[in-house]
Amino acid sequence: MTDTVPAAVAQEAAELRSSLNHHAHQYYVLDAPQIPDAEYDRLFRRLSELEEAHPALRTPDSPTQRVGGAVLPFFAKVRHRVPMLSIRTETDIEATGAEAFDVRVRRELGLAADAPPVEYVAELKFDGLAINLRYEDGTLVQAATRGDGEVGEDVTQNIRTIGQIPLTLPKDAPPVLEVRGEVYMKRADFDRLNERQRQKIEAGQKNEKTYVNPRNAAAGAVRQLDPAIARQRPLSFFAYGWGEVTPVEQGGPDFGTQYQALLTLRSWGFPVSDRTQVCSGPQELAEFHRQVGALRDQLPFDIDGVVYKVNSLTLQRQMGFVSREPRWAVAHKYPAQEQMTRMLGIDVQVGRTGKLTPVARLDPVFVGGTTVSNATLHNLFELRRKELRVGDMVVIRRAGDVIPEVVGRVPPAGVAVARAEGADSEAAIDQAVGEGDSRRLPPRDPYVPNFRMPRQCPICGSAVVREKGEVNHRCSGGLFCGAQRKQAILHYAQRRAVDIEGLGEKLVDQLVDAGIVKTLPDLYRIGLTALAALDRMADKSAQNVLEGLEASKTTTLPRFLYGLGIRHVGETTAKDLARHFGRLDAIMGETPESAATVDQLLEVNDVGPIVAEAIHTFFAQPHNREVIEQLRACGVHWPEGDPAPRAALPLAGKTFVITGTLPTLSREDAKERLEAAGAKVAGSVSKKTHYVVAGEAAGSKLDKARELGVEVLDEAGMLALLPAG
Ligand code: IVH
Repeated sequence: MTDTVPAAVAQEAAELRSSLNHHAHQYYVLDAPQIPDAEYDRLFRRLSELEEAHPALRTPDSPTQRVGGAVLPFFAKVRHRVPMLSIRTETDIEATGAEAFDVRVRRELGLAADAPPVEYVAELKFDGLAINLRYEDGTLVQAATRGDGEVGEDVTQNIRTIGQIPLTLPKDAPPVLEVRGEVYMKRADFDRLNERQRQKIEAGQKNEKTYVNPRNAAAGAVRQLDPAIARQRPLSFFAYGWGEVTPVEQGGPDFGTQYQALLTLRSWGFPVSDRTQVCSGPQELAEFHRQVGALRDQLPFDIDGVVYKVNSLTLQRQMGFVSREPRWAVAHKYPAQEQMTRMLGIDVQVGRTGKLTPVARLDPVFVGGTTVSNATLHNLFELRRKELRVGDMVVIRRAGDVIPEVVGRVPPAGVAVARAEGADSEAAIDQAVGEGDSRRLPPRDPYVPNFRMPRQCPICGSAVVREKGEVNHRCSGGLFCGAQRKQAILHYAQRRAVDIEGLGEKLVDQLVDAGIVKTLPDLYRIGLTALAALDRMADKSAQNVLEGLEASKTTTLPRFLYGLGIRHVGETTAKDLARHFGRLDAIMGETPESAATVDQLLEVNDVGPIVAEAIHTFFAQPHNREVIEQLRACGVHWPEGDPAPRAALPLAGKTFVITGTLPTLSREDAKERLEAAGAKVAGSVSKKTHYVVAGEAAGSKLDKARELGVEVLDEAGMLALLPAG
């Protein structure tokens, strides 16, 4: 009997193989996937189906016939003494997936229906890359990637940089020990890394890129040829298995069970997840799957499923393998955290701080366990760099509690494959791809215009600005912009600003949401009845809030200026401004035209062009002036003084560092007094420091001062430098 495969089916299988091989190369070798894993899995399943129906299609080069990617030419090859296996994936995402596995296990073991439940170990399926760590006589001698399961790459140099991996083992470890586990990157580390990468790209470093996901960033770091660069990538590790180990007959360990082995590995210094659990029977496995699924978003790292393993090593040996997959283990997945969909439009959102964020409106897609119809594009530069246009197919990632993001554009698959097959000119690609190729996505309409940021805030209509060297566009509306209302009120009310006792985040939310407070002056117009009518507000606490509001009316100019939330005006700048100009009217003028000019603002200590511009813009806007007038009309007041340009102050231009405990003054008081005399108070000692004020138990800062020959004062010495009174 010959298996006759219809030509169309053979053609489809050939295309799937070529496409899968291309994407496997992108993923495993280049760490630059172009399609989400779920899409890869879909293509893979389709090919498996075809091969199932027509075994003649199962060619040796089919991606279904091997475990992973090829070896990079740059690293030395390592032949694994014990092959690194893959793991079967349970396709049923529902709880019944655990049952299906248990049924298979019981059948394999020939267990009767009334035999007791099988004991399993349930582990997390970490989303990183598998590593084999080889220890000889208690020393790490080699670390290798999985490669194709038989031969991997020697990445010892890079792995040695991972702090979590022990370089030496305790005395009770066997002479030969290979530990297997996953190298991964925590989400927070990944976010920080990408943030740094974005800054580098912004600063014009052409060879830098951002990473698509933590798995990719981890793989990129492990395969980094320069270990110095690898060292800067924060990687982590979890152990979940082993390779070659000194046999029991030669004095090696007798693990007995998977769980016992993991505990022993942990005792030798390897990180083992404490979520690992012994489960009896399929219900407990399903319960584990459910529980872990519920807290997946809160884990500090990505997982793409859980793994169940038969606990008894004797039973594991009895069951053995099918091709490269053990019969005693299975991966039970969760919904993919990356999917592709079409970007239907780009909206602009204004955040609490006034930052404008372009947000993709999507054809709704199920990703990471929820349906997503919006995803952040971060900023205009990211959007341009990824060459995104409305109508594109894009990859969406949603992991953890973070906002879903657009990772990148999906290139037309046919084009990618044709390129991989060597076609380089556009014409050659077109020919290779051909008309009506099912893999080819509709090409992008060349007339779709590039997205532009609006010039006016979509919420309040104020001017949108982007400062030099900044990637973000911002609304300059500040106090006036509805999107920034809550933030502006909280900023004004905080202890370091005008200090409104009792006005916290929850109350501000309620006041703004109920429409009671729209602008700052509204705060001083709230009545007891309105307050007491709010949810969970007792008369007594309402009364306290009103008292807090009343007390806040008596304030100082620096606090008031800081409270206005002018961009770049922190506490120190507010103090400098107040000291320099003495009175608010000297800064804002009677009309916008008579406000302090940028040049005049530049004379203030530590105020540079960006800050001066921000202050000037703030006071030039009529709605900001209006808010200030109304606050004054409500009774907010402060003592005004005479202008005291810093240059005229006795300690102008001098930098101090305070360390240790002073006999009478708190550090904060000492700082305030020095600043009032025109001095700057810094946090660390350098050649630019003029004086170090040292008290009891002064430590390294005092040593540093002596080393640099900086003059050291005690409290009395410091007070002597201050003007009397
Ligand atoms: S056991 C004998 N346990 O998933 C089975 N693998 O396709 C060997 N993985 O290459 C793997 N977490 O990169 C195992 N708790 C875990 C795992 C795990 C993640 C990865 C590993 C492996 C792949 C299996």
